[in-house]
This record gives sequence, structure tokens and C-alpha cells, in this order.
Amino acid sequence: MKNLFYFACLSLLFGLNSCKSITQSSPESIYPLNKSIQAKNAAVVTAHYVASEVGKSILEKGGNAVDAAIAVQFALDVCFPVAGNIGGGGFMIYRENGGAVYTLDYREKAPLAATADMYLDENGDADLNKSQLGHLAVGVPGSVDGMVQAYKRFSKLKDWKTLVQPSVDIAKKGFKLTASQAAYLNETKPKFEKANTRPNQFSDSKRFKTGELLVQKDLARVYEAIRDNGREGFYGGWVADSIVAEMKRGNGIITLEDLEKYQAKWREPVAGYYDDYKVYSMAPPSSGGVLLIQMLEMLEDYDLKDMGFHSTESIHLITEVERRAFADRAKHLGDTDFYPVPLKEMMDSLYARKRMIDFDPKQASLSSQIGAGELKESEQTTHFCIVDNEGNAVSITTTLNGGYGSKVIVGGTGIFLNNEMDDFSAKPGTPNMFGLIGAEANKIEPEKRMLSSMTPTIIEKNGELVMVLGTPGGSTIITSVLQVALNYMEFGMDANEAVQASRFHHQWLPNVITSEKSAISPEVLKELNSMGHEVVIRGKIGRMEAIIKMQDGSLDAAADTRGDDHASGY
Ligand code: DON
Repeated sequence: MKNLFYFACLSLLFGLNSCKSITQSSPESIYPLNKSIQAKNAAVVTAHYVASEVGKSILEKGGNAVDAAIAVQFALDVCFPVAGNIGGGGFMIYRENGGAVYTLDYREKAPLAATADMYLDENGDADLNKSQLGHLAVGVPGSVDGMVQAYKRFSKLKDWKTLVQPSVDIAKKGFKLTASQAAYLNETKPKFEKANTRPNQFSDSKRFKTGELLVQKDLARVYEAIRDNGREGFYGGWVADSIVAEMKRGNGIITLEDLEKYQAKWREPVAGYYDDYKVYSMAPPSSGGVLLIQMLEMLEDYDLKDMGFHSTESIHLITEVERRAFADRAKHLGDTDFYPVPLKEMMDSLYARKRMIDFDPKQASLSSQIGAGELKESEQTTHFCIVDNEGNAVSITTTLNGGYGSKVIVGGTGIFLNNEMDDFSAKPGTPNMFGLIGAEANKIEPEKRMLSSMTPTIIEKNGELVMVLGTPGGSTIITSVLQVALNYMEFGMDANEAVQASRFHHQWLPNVITSEKSAISPEVLKELNSMGHEVVIRGKIGRMEAIIKMQDGSLDAAADTRGDDHASGY
């Protein structure tokens, strides 16, 4: 990646083909990646070139944003298997051009045989190996039912086969692995070996090379089944039988009944105001929307713009807001179908003010040190944004949780299964993969959905769409979405500036600001330290995608330079 260089690709003139782009390329880069485009009609931003181009082709065929989203969700499973998935789940937020907003929860569920203490060892300690690697870590997948439900309610194309066929083709013909894809697949080989009951192309000893064609024949057959039989192609027939057989071989607990019972759910979005903006996001089982709105409420009384972007004052304020929100997350948030989450109260502006009463502009607050966990640098969820030529917008974050999920590949199918069970609180106070702790609200119960941080978001102003955004990043998802939304709403950045700007993160416990290197200058660092903030510099935070709808109706779309992400449009 060191040799990456940027050059403006102005050969495609705005007006001639209605799309202007800035392309990032390098001698070893496999695809001509657009990091920033201005599109007249429609735009798609995803974590992979091949998926973005699939989305664009569906839009050009007359599909709407939901049609394109379905094709992209499936295509990402094939060309971005680290996170794109049919063995996992996600959240979709859809805003129709007229202003109606819908959210779809296709989050995984705990299997019927799951129990609150299923990850505790004989001493009563949480064994996170079990919740993160192998068959017991897997939640009942939701992505295929999610896409079927989105299709039934909102498809304009009304041609399911056309939406699934690109995935059959990519799996059959193969796609070229990028350098980071080849490297991560190689790095994960030992875990694939450990977690799998059957040999497969990911666990054998052959090393993947940059530019190598990855053909997935078994997966192509799965997509033919989904193409021809819809929901039944995954939750029934030979694919479901294969999943159940895999579970039996690996001592997992998902049964055919679990698969048959799985249903994605339409939920009310959460919404709140920030100045003239109205922000829509995902309700529980995601914590993302609630925290985003709570944090915006807490910030509304302060003049961030006046404080300055990444000044000591603004970083301190945002940190304190993040600290308070994540403390609430640990205690109050879980699946609302199982636990009475005080949703309204948490997003109430008076409550937000009360939470900030003890905010000291000169001094860091103290988080309890108990139960603090290490943050891991995992960026293995994926987000995509789509706006179609009618102004309908989709924002989807979808995941297997860790990179390649549980590392279990269903024998004979090529399906990667999630390790989403780790998002439950295995034991009160014990941190999960992202250092997040939880309690009663997020304990494991059969058929319950595990709490998420995924924050697909859509923002409007004066009743008009202005921004679509989201990112992977575990717990940092919520704070990244907050900061990129503020980059636009407060600091007036365009999509590319807002997405590429450096980011920082605080999640209450551990009591530390983790930050990308360039987010905090040496002077600001000194000042933050003297106020009592510990700052730890870490690697990249998130892989943000965003589309801003400009006043003239054109689309300003940006793909994160932190990854192989790509913006397409026309
Ligand atoms: O739902 C969640 O919050 C997590 N399973 C998301 C995991 C994630 O973002 C991993 N990597 N970036």
C-alpha cells in the first residue's frame, strides 16, 4: 500500500458521461478505484470495485436503490467475503424520494438452543474463543431473508433473477483478489484450518496472490438456488441441509427449525434533529442509531464550529459525549423484543442536557477502570450507500462480525458463517471482541438478536435528502458516523473531505481516546493529556462511505481511502 499514489482522472468529463471522478491507483492496484465522484443521476459506494459496478449496472437497467442494494449485498458476499455475506446479517435504512423512511433488521438471532451461560467455562469465566471462533459462535443468518423482504416490498425492477445472477457469474467466473484481500486470506489460513470440518479452498496450503482469480464453484451453486428459489434456496433444500450437517459435524447448535423460523423485521427508524438537519438511523437491536442521536442531542448546545475541527476543545467535548453515550449503551441497550430499553428517554434532549451537567470543559471525566478491554483493529464489516436517479436512498451496514466471521465455511457450499454471538454479553462486565461490555439487556436468550453498533444513517434537511453514510469498525462505527456527519453538518466539508478526514474514538471503557495519528496534533495531544485524557494512537478507523446530495440534485460520493473501496455512478 506504501506505493499508492493518487491522480485526478479528468478524462471523463462531467456532462459528457455525467460522472466526474478522482481515481486512486497504483502499479500494483488491481482495479481503477474511484475515491470521489460527482454523478448527475445515481451513485453507489461500496467496499469493492466489482460490487459497486454491479450496483451501477442494476441502476442503469432501471432498478431502484433497493434493487441495486440487493444485488450489491449478494455481490459483496462473493467478491468481499471477509464481511459481505449471506451467512451473516445487517441493517438497511431506505428513504423514498417522497420522504418516507423504512428500516429493515436482518440481524442474526441466537439459535433456539442458546443459553445465557453457553460461553462460560467451569470457573464461570467467559471463554471468548467459543463465542468468536468455530460453530458455536454462529448466529442464525438473516441476510437472504432480509433481501427477499426488501425485494417484495420495494423492488421496482420486479426481476429477482436479474438481481442474483451477477453473484452466480462472479462466483463462477471469478474475480481478481486485491493485495489486501490476498494478504488477509493468507493470514487467516490457520484459523480456517482450525475451524473447519471439511477441506476447502481457503484452508488448504496454497497461498493466495494479488491479482489471482478467485473462483467459487460451490458458492455459484448456492446462488443458483437463491436465484431460482428465493428464500427457500437458502433456508430450505440442499443449502439448509448442508448448514445443519455442518453444525452437526462441528458441534454447533443451529437446526433446521432455526433456519425455517428466521424472519427479518421492518422496524421504526430512530430519528432526531440537529440544528436544521433530521437524522434517521437504526433502532435496536442496533445501539448505533440511539447513541448517534443521543450524542447529537448532547452536542447541540455547544458551538463545535467555533471551537474548530480537531481542536483540543472539540476533541475533548466529543470525547466526553462519546464516553457518556457508551456508558448508557453498556447498561440499557439490547434487543427491544426481549428487554424494555428506555429508548425515548435515551434520545430525549432534556436527558441529554442532564447527562452533560457534570461536563467540565477543562478536565477529562473518569470512567470506571473495571472490566476495561483491549480494542482490536478489526474492520471487517462493510457498509454501502446507494442513491438512484429518482432520489431514493439506501444505507446498509452488513457483517459477519469478525473477518470471515466464525471462520467456518459450510461444507460443500462456500458459505462463510458469522461469529455474531460474540456481540451478546457472554458475562456481565466481560468485554467482547470490541472491548464492549454489557449486562442483562444484552444477555443471551433463544431467538434474541445480539446488540449491534452498526449505524446506517440518512440525513435530510428541510425535508430533502442531503446525506447517506455509514462504516464498519465495531464500536468505532458509532463515533465515526457521528464525526463524519459533523464534518458535513458543522464543518461544511464535502463528501471526500468528510470521509477521508482522520477520526478518533472513545467508548467509556477502556478509558482512553484511541485515535488515528493525524487526528491529534502534538500541541493538542499535550493539552488533552494535561486535561486528564489518555490518548493511544492506533491504525485506521473504519471504512466510511458517503453520498451527499447537492442542491442542484447531483451526487457527491466518496469511498474511503482506508480500503479498496470504490464509488460508481452515472
Ligand atoms: O454489529 C456489530 O456491531 C458488530 N458485529 C460489527 C462488527 C464490525 O464492524 C467489525 N469490523 N469492522
